[in-house]
Amino acid sequence: MNLNQIIDKKNNKEKLTTKEIEYFVNGFSKDEISKLDATKFIKAVYENGLDEKETIDLTRAMAYSGKIIDLSDVGECVDKHSTGGVSDTTTLIIVPVLASLGVKVAKMSGRSLGWTGGTADKVEVFDGYDNYISEKEFKQNLRQIDECLISQSEEIAIADKKIYKLRDETGYVDNIALIASSIMSKKIACGAKILCLDVKYGNGAFMKDFESALQLAKLMCKIGKSFDIKTSAVISNMNEPLSKYIGNNLEVYSALKVLNGEENNLSTLSKNIVATILKSIHKVESLEEGISLATNSIKSKSALEKFKQLILSQHGSIYKVENYEVLAKCQNTLPIYATSKGYISKINARELGNAVHDLCKLYDEKDDKNQCGLVLNKQKNEYVKLGELIATIHYSSDKDLSKIVEKINSCFTITKEKGEDFELIKEIIF
Ligand code: URA
Repeated sequence: MNLNQIIDKKNNKEKLTTKEIEYFVNGFSKDEISKLDATKFIKAVYENGLDEKETIDLTRAMAYSGKIIDLSDVGECVDKHSTGGVSDTTTLIIVPVLASLGVKVAKMSGRSLGWTGGTADKVEVFDGYDNYISEKEFKQNLRQIDECLISQSEEIAIADKKIYKLRDETGYVDNIALIASSIMSKKIACGAKILCLDVKYGNGAFMKDFESALQLAKLMCKIGKSFDIKTSAVISNMNEPLSKYIGNNLEVYSALKVLNGEENNLSTLSKNIVATILKSIHKVESLEEGISLATNSIKSKSALEKFKQLILSQHGSIYKVENYEVLAKCQNTLPIYATSKGYISKINARELGNAVHDLCKLYDEKDDKNQCGLVLNKQKNEYVKLGELIATIHYSSDKDLSKIVEKINSCFTITKEKGEDFELIKEIIF
């Protein structure tokens, strides 16, 4: 087989065969294909797309380029995945709620990517927490406490790691077939047979509008089903940050507030994802029934207990679970004031995520980075007076924050009229 011919075929908008796609994926993961040639292949795919069969072929080849975890000896396990957002901490709520309802959750999470946060980084806020426990311990925890939350090991979907890095470097990122195959290859390799996808749309998401998010969700559901994974999707709005807290410590704080009973957009989305999963496995007949089970699990503090068990089972300290107010404290704060009066008609989620990312980059130590963040003191469509506090930067030791302050200020649009109403969940598909 010849890679140049395969690339020419795609550039001529012809369909690639299973063997041709495998030839590229296997060759590139074994370093038998150069970065330059791989870029040409990815560019051809990015510009000309892949049909459903080609996307499934690409997904399979990437999934099988690394280790495949077999969870059949543990029992029916659930996984969830968010396509990435700002202040999106639903995993820390969904995992213990489901476990408290007797559903096994084998959750493998990623690190922060660009402006989006990563659950693997957030759980490390708990001293001693081990994201890399062995497969044996992982399965043992699933059997004993119904939950486990680890970071994807280096051995999972090796080809995706290489291709993702290349896409990131070359800018060939926002292509639906490439995104769907990238996400699903990792989920297939992780072994759970029930999957709920939280597909985000809007300014803080990869998919900018609802229609493309729906298309991505449908494609990933089809891929999942073709690998015998019961896949559902919740399509949710990421035009605004999901909660008023951005940054590792602050986002864990916001999840713990929900586990202690606070109701807000974060709790609503988390409960809806739980309900979608419960409905997909026929534990409930309706989403309403699922939401009410999730609400009761939180109210009775069963989910909070499960959260403590999760942290302890992965060798973390629960001091910050029991004293979660400490997570909202930091060495230094800096207020941001409204530069005009009116309604906050828009909050730019993506740029706020980028600003917190820039802030973290000023520090080397994990504890300093974890302290970095932003509290939104005003919500979308709230009225503010000139000079009123709209946000508070949290940071560690003193640094020049002028550029970050400027960026954060530009994220708030203040107008005479209110902005559009915020619709959190647009559609749920099974
Ligand atoms: N997340 C992934 O894992 N892959 C993508 O391509 C986009 C988001």
